[in-house]
Amino acid sequence: MLKDNIQSLLAQVSELSAANAEEVEALRIKYLSKKGEITALFNEFRNVPNEQKREIGQLLNQLRQQTESRINELREKVESQKSKVESKLDLTRTPDPISLGTRHPLSLVREEIIDIFSRIGFTVAEGPEVEDDKHVYGMLNFAPEHPARDMQDTFFIEKEIGVQKPTDVLLRSHTSSVQTRVMTSQKPPIRVLCPGRVYRNEAISARAHCFFHQVEGLYIDKNVSFADLREALLYFSKEMFGPDTKIRLRPSYFPFTEPSAEMDISCNICGGVGCSFCKGTGWVEILGCGMVDPNVLEACGIDSKEYSGFAFGMGVERITNLKYRVKDLRLFSENDVRFLRQFEAC
Ligand code: DAH
Repeated sequence: MLKDNIQSLLAQVSELSAANAEEVEALRIKYLSKKGEITALFNEFRNVPNEQKREIGQLLNQLRQQTESRINELREKVESQKSKVESKLDLTRTPDPISLGTRHPLSLVREEIIDIFSRIGFTVAEGPEVEDDKHVYGMLNFAPEHPARDMQDTFFIEKEIGVQKPTDVLLRSHTSSVQTRVMTSQKPPIRVLCPGRVYRNEAISARAHCFFHQVEGLYIDKNVSFADLREALLYFSKEMFGPDTKIRLRPSYFPFTEPSAEMDISCNICGGVGCSFCKGTGWVEILGCGMVDPNVLEACGIDSKEYSGFAFGMGVERITNLKYRVKDLRLFSENDVRFLRQFEAC
């Protein structure tokens, strides 16, 4: 009986298998623990007649050794499988970083301009890039034959593809069109900034491009004077270029402002002494400005006897060049990461 039991267990043991450490341990308990099947056979050994003790004893020892070695073999197998899985899983590895881009220098500068003017009550207004003649020129007091309307300067949009007919649909050449849209839809007091992209039919070079960015400003209220314009622009220049910055207003002409001026700031490279950047003058031009022409106010439905206002417009690329010395305009739209990465810390 005992011999048969030993032999059937010996056959079983060589077939044992386990998928994990828990199953190996369950086998050890089943066969080799104090209450295990093999231990039970050893307990029965006492009752074996003396003449069989040698043979049965040998068989029992063989069974125990084979079981132990099979279980050890299984234990090693599951442990090596586990460590293979674990070796693929490197818990110390830093996760793949999410690669962040950098902010475009023109966005940085545009946001800074908006931030400075928002501190004196300006809010942002936006309008369409595809505009009509009325909002870009007509309501802004441009004469019907004004050269800015010329095909050389403005991109007109064909109404039918391939058919070149006179059209009043165009890509805006300045963001002053947003000023007209605000003046016709809001009542004074008005204090807005109009940032956006504008288009002009220019040959692309280091100094000119067929599109660029502007931020214009418009303030309309009772009793707005040229002194208010000057103060607002002086405040802006000091905030943007440093507290020692001086400004200079030179008479100029725009159809939509009267009087009009061009504004220079003291050269922020040489501090106004004169250098190659400011061509020895100590001044650099940064924007156009003036008092809103009464014709413009009236065209937009604002009573020019009750209200007056000032307006200004600057090129974001120009300000960025002054702040970060980006001389070649083309760099702004080439998407070269070696250029863009330089603004990582800004
Ligand atoms: N629109 C002008 C331009 O594109 C810039 C400008 C000048 C805007 C004077 C203004 C202004 O609002 O008052 O060159």
